[in-house]
Amino acid sequence: MRTANCFLLLSLVSATYSRVVDPLVIQPDGAFSGAQEVKVPVVLGVMSGCPDALLCESVFDHVLDRVSAKVDLSLTFIGTVNASEPDFGVTCKHGPQECAGNVQELCAQKYEPFDRWWEFVQCQNFQGRYEVGKPETALKCAKAAQLDWENSGVGTCAGLDGDGKAEEGVRLLRENVVVTKKMGIEKSCTVIINGKQVCVRDGAWKQCEGGHEPSDFVRQIEEEYSKLNKG
Ligand SMILES: *[C@@H]1O[C@H](CO)[C@@H](O)[C@H](O)[C@H]1NC(C)=O
Repeated sequence: MRTANCFLLLSLVSATYSRVVDPLVIQPDGAFSGAQEVKVPVVLGVMSGCPDALLCESVFDHVLDRVSAKVDLSLTFIGTVNASEPDFGVTCKHGPQECAGNVQELCAQKYEPFDRWWEFVQCQNFQGRYEVGKPETALKCAKAAQLDWENSGVGTCAGLDGDGKAEEGVRLLRENVVVTKKMGIEKSCTVIINGKQVCVRDGAWKQCEGGHEPSDFVRQIEEEYSKLNKG
């Protein structure tokens, strides 16, 4: 089981490499430069309405203050595909409103540059966990994060009225919870740095060998960054 998960994580990571690395870049002046720097993939396995996820995302906000240029951060969502669920086809632990929040965040992640979707998520969290996923929270936070709900693609993906039930977003959620499961992620929040699970926040911090303070994650990211970019 463990081995299988590790294998899957490794293939995900190598897929990430091939996307990020551009081995020969021709500069405008015609000179060749070496490989571009590789950012460290950081994945947070979350549920948008989960208090542990909110805490984890707030810790990573501090981490990013220090190493944002070296990190390629993404969220992946925990849920169970369930054909009996009328709106999403997915059961989310904290109810359908959490599924809606997951959809809104997935759509923002897909259509907006990092700074804007991350601010959108932070804004949702700041309203409180019971507000995450409500249409009015999504629209308010879209404004706050200067995210163009109607024209950027996010609104079409997540529902123009913010309800999280548009076809594209619902499909994204269904696909995403399957990917999360294949990665072996079960608890919100699970922290994965460069393909390795380094920490879980589930009521308390668990399995965090390298620590769980922002400075601990910064250190682990710096180490992985050096490994990825040496030579
Ligand atoms: C699937 O969804 C139905 C309808 O909401 C629910 O009653 C049932 O418990 C769900 N099954 C699982 C395994 O979550």
